[in-house]
Amino acid sequence: MKAKKSETERLSDLSRVSDEGEIYQPPAWAGETGTPSMSVYLKRWKYSVEDPEGFWGELARELVWEKKYEKVLEWNRPHARWFVGGKLNASVQCLDKHLNTPVAEKTALVWIGEPGEKKTLSYRDLYTLVNKLASGLKKLGVKRGDRVAIYMPMLPELPIACLACARIGAIHSVVFAGFAPQSLRDRIDDCGASVVITSDGGWRRGSKMLVKDIVDSAVDGSQTITNVVVVKRGGDVFSHEMKQGRDVYYENLVADGDEFVAPEPMDSEDPLFILYTSGTTGKPKGIFHTHAGYLLGTLVSSREVFDLRDNDIFWCTADIGWITGHSYVIYGPMQNGATQIMYEGAPNYPNPDRFWEIVEQEKVTIFYTAPTAIRAFMSWGDKWIKPRDLSSLRLLGTVGEPINPEVWRWYHKTIGAERCPIVDTWWQTETGSISITPLPGSTPTKPGSATLPFYGIDAVVLDESGAELSEGGGLLAIRKPWPAMMRGIWGDEQRYIDTYWSRWEGKYYFAGDAAYRDKDGYFWIVGRVDDVVNVSGHRIGTAELESAFIEHEAVIEAAVVGVPHKIKGEGLVGFVSLREGEQHTEELAEELREWIAKKIGKFARPERVMFVDDLPKTRSGKIIRRLLRNIATGRELGDVTTLADASTLEKLRQQYQEE
Ligand code: WTA
Repeated sequence: MKAKKSETERLSDLSRVSDEGEIYQPPAWAGETGTPSMSVYLKRWKYSVEDPEGFWGELARELVWEKKYEKVLEWNRPHARWFVGGKLNASVQCLDKHLNTPVAEKTALVWIGEPGEKKTLSYRDLYTLVNKLASGLKKLGVKRGDRVAIYMPMLPELPIACLACARIGAIHSVVFAGFAPQSLRDRIDDCGASVVITSDGGWRRGSKMLVKDIVDSAVDGSQTITNVVVVKRGGDVFSHEMKQGRDVYYENLVADGDEFVAPEPMDSEDPLFILYTSGTTGKPKGIFHTHAGYLLGTLVSSREVFDLRDNDIFWCTADIGWITGHSYVIYGPMQNGATQIMYEGAPNYPNPDRFWEIVEQEKVTIFYTAPTAIRAFMSWGDKWIKPRDLSSLRLLGTVGEPINPEVWRWYHKTIGAERCPIVDTWWQTETGSISITPLPGSTPTKPGSATLPFYGIDAVVLDESGAELSEGGGLLAIRKPWPAMMRGIWGDEQRYIDTYWSRWEGKYYFAGDAAYRDKDGYFWIVGRVDDVVNVSGHRIGTAELESAFIEHEAVIEAAVVGVPHKIKGEGLVGFVSLREGEQHTEELAEELREWIAKKIGKFARPERVMFVDDLPKTRSGKIIRRLLRNIATGRELGDVTTLADASTLEKLRQQYQEE
C-alpha cells in the first residue's frame, strides 16, 4: 500500500496538463506527401499489435540479410527473440546498403566544431573510414563479441567508431564524455571492455576538455584494457600523454587500415551495443540491444516519426553518449541515408543563438531536441531567435522528459512559426526506439501529450493491481514485445526480470513511468515513479549519488531527491548527515557538491546539500524519500505515521526553509 501512495501522489501532480481540448491539427502538407492519415495510422497500428509477425515481417524485407531468418518472433516471456536464425550486420544497413545508390555520394554528416570548423562527410567517406578503423581494431586483436568502450565528445569519429565495432561484431559501449573517471571505470569493468576509443580533447563552452586525461585515470590499473585508441581532435591543441605499448593514434590505425573489411555476419540476436543507464540501485544497468530488431525499430521509426525524406537536413541535438544519439543520430537516420548535422559544443557558445545560426546556415528541416534545451532557449530570450531565418524548418521534435505545455507552445510559435508540427516522443534506453509519439502527418497534437503509441507498441496505463485504465492516471506499461526492446541487463539476467517484468506477474513490461490517459486515449507522461531523477534529460539514479556521498569521509548517510527546476526539469538535493565531530559549514556543503561532480560527472552536481542530524526513516530503517521530497518542494508533509520519529521531520522542514 505504501508504494501506491507515493505513486498516486505523483499522479496528483497534474497541473502541467493543459486543457485537453487544445488541439493542433496536422499541417496542410501532410496530405500532399503521402504521409498516412489518422485512419491509416489507426488501421496500421491495430495490425501491428494484433499481428506483430505479419507487420514486422513485411518491413524486415528492407533490411539487408546475409541469411534470411526462419521465424519473425519467438516470445518466451519475458524474453523475445526477433528474426530468429537471421544473419546481418549493422554497418551494412547504415553504409554498404547505400553504396550502389545515389545516397553513396550524399552528405551523411555535416560536422561543426564549437570553435567553428566544418567537416562534411559523404556516405562513401563514412564507409571508407569505418572499414579502415575496423581493420585497425582487428589488428589490435579486437574480435567478435569483445566489448569496446567509447568515450568521446561529439566528433565524427564517434559514430565511425560505433560502426567500426559493429562491422567486426564487437559490442560497443559508449560512455557519455561528461562522466567522471570512476563512472567510466565502473562501466569498463562491468562489461569487461578490452579497448577504449577516445580523443585527446574537445571544446565545450570555449574551454578545452582534456578527455584523454580522464581516460588515463579511468583505465589506470584496469585488468581488461589492452589498448586505448586516441583521435586527435585538433593538431597539438590538447596536451596529453601516450602510454607506450597501450595507446595508439586513430589516425595511424586508419592510415594503415585496409580499404575493405568483410562485415561479420551477426546473428539477429547477437548484442550490438551496451548502454549504461541509471536505475534504483547504486550500480548502473548495462542495457543491451541486439542487431536485427533494434535496426528495424530505428529504421522504421526514424522514417515515420520524422517523416524523413531525401532532401531533409536532420538535426538531432542529443549526444551519442545517450540512447537518443544511438538511435537517432547513428542507426535510424543512417539506415535511411539521411543528411545530418552534428555539432560538438554548447548551444550558447559563443552566443545563445548558436543553434539558430546553424539552422539558418545549414537549412535544417527537422530539429529534435530536449525540453531542458527548449526551456534554456526560452530563458535566453526571443531576441536571439527573431533575427535568424528559421524558415527551412518543417518539423520539430522533443524527447527525454515531459514537456510543459507552455514550453510546447513557445516551441511551436517561436521556433516553428506555428507552421511545424511537434512530435513529442516518449521512449527509453530500454525501449530502444520511439514508443509513444504523434506521427506528423496524422496525429492531432495536444501540448504536453506524447499522444498515441507507435506501431507495434501495445501501451497501457494500469492501476496498482494491474487493471487497465481506459482513462485516468496510473503506471505506464507495454503488453507485447516489440523489435527494438532491450534484451537484458549485461551480466545480470535476474535484474532484468525483477526490474521490468515482475510487477504484474510478467504480463507487462513496466516502464517505471507514471502516465495519464485522457478521454481521447492520449497518453500524458507524468514522470518516473522510481528513484530515478531526470536532470536536463539525463537519467540519474539517486542511489548512485548516495553511494558517492558516502564515499566522502565526512559523510555517514545521505538521501538524494529530485526537485522541480526551471531549466533542468529536475534538480538534485542531497540530505546528508555527517560523522561525529564534522561541522555543518557552507564550505563543506560546497565541497560535497564538487565531490559529486568529480565522482559522477558535472551534470549530476546537486543544486543544494542540506545537513541533517537524522534522516526520516521507517521503523524498519528505510529512508523515506517521499517526505524529503515534500520538504524540498515545500509541500505538505503528508502521511508520517510510518515514521520512527516524527519530530525530526518538522525540525528538518523548518531548517530547510530557513537556510
Ligand atoms: C523520460 C530517453 C515524457 C521518461 C529517450 C523515461 C519522457 C525516461 C519523454 C527515459 C517524453 C523520455 N515525455 N517523459 N517525450 N521521453 N522521457 O532512458 O521518464 O534516457 O522513462 O531515454 O525519460 O530516459 P532515457
